[in-house]
Amino acid sequence: MPVRKPKVVVTRRLPDPVETRMRELFDTELNIDDTPLSAEALGAAVARADVLVPTITDRIDASVIAKAGDKLKLIANFGAGVDHIDVAAANARGITVTNTPGVLTDDTADMTMGLIMAVARRVVEGAEAIQRGDFHGWTPTWMLGRRIGGKRLGIIGMGRIGQALARRARAFGIAIHYHNRKPVSPRIAEELEATYWESLDQMLARMDFISVNCPHTPATYHLLSARRLKLIRPHAFLINTARGEIIDESALAGMLEAGEIAGAGLDVFEHEPAVNPKLLKLPNVVLLPHMSSATIEGRVDMGEKVIVNIRTWMDGHKPPDRVIPSML
Ligand code: 8YV
Repeated sequence: MPVRKPKVVVTRRLPDPVETRMRELFDTELNIDDTPLSAEALGAAVARADVLVPTITDRIDASVIAKAGDKLKLIANFGAGVDHIDVAAANARGITVTNTPGVLTDDTADMTMGLIMAVARRVVEGAEAIQRGDFHGWTPTWMLGRRIGGKRLGIIGMGRIGQALARRARAFGIAIHYHNRKPVSPRIAEELEATYWESLDQMLARMDFISVNCPHTPATYHLLSARRLKLIRPHAFLINTARGEIIDESALAGMLEAGEIAGAGLDVFEHEPAVNPKLLKLPNVVLLPHMSSATIEGRVDMGEKVIVNIRTWMDGHKPPDRVIPSML
């Protein structure tokens, strides 16, 4: 157990209360101007830190891990997804990786529901029209969207966020369908009246809304490939609040442009922060800048989890949110 305060290098600005507490507890190096670190700067950070606190904007691949000093024992990620970290390479060097699951579940599920509403009911299009001065009085046939109640939602990935989305969607009268590596427990399936589809292809071909809620791993990269996207019905809407890499973004943009799918609500992008230019021009999409977990409460809770993970490690215990490669 280290007697001195560990050197904790934080790669981005975190909410004030989190940074303040981290400075009290640790020898904390903050990134006051919030500039994302270059690969070189990340290499230097892992060389001098006991603990690195990265975010999704840091690519911690094997070449960065190779630069870690002997002191580096913990990568306490600020975020649930760890697809930007080579966890196996870290573990091979005796470095533990932790994340922040659970505390952003509800915020992410809320935003997913918000995107379902926004695309099907044309919320952003309507708001933009009125701001442009294009509201000239009510008409029976203007701004018609699609009803949400009574429709089928296919959730890809029925973990915490998928289940939280299902609970919300049920309150809107939506029928829950899902594809997952394995079925959820009978208790949850019964509570959600959820239908399990072992075949993703078959589910895609039968849904009105499809929501991506699985992690990005080598197995889910382009899970929605050009071939699979073609299985989606033309009146259906696709929502993604998970990771851009799960969908072939270029194929999706082409289909949206050609009217082969009704619309999309996207909070994440394949080459973030770049967005396929075709998507920016389309009226039938709602695009958000990766903000599903962006609430003050959520981000403070994420910081709290990072601190608890570092503290338990300092005290010689196993941090509660360890990521193990078999989970990925
Ligand atoms: C986080 C996310 O805010 O937690 C995640 O996996 O996608 C985001 O909502 C981001 O990753 C912070 O690193």
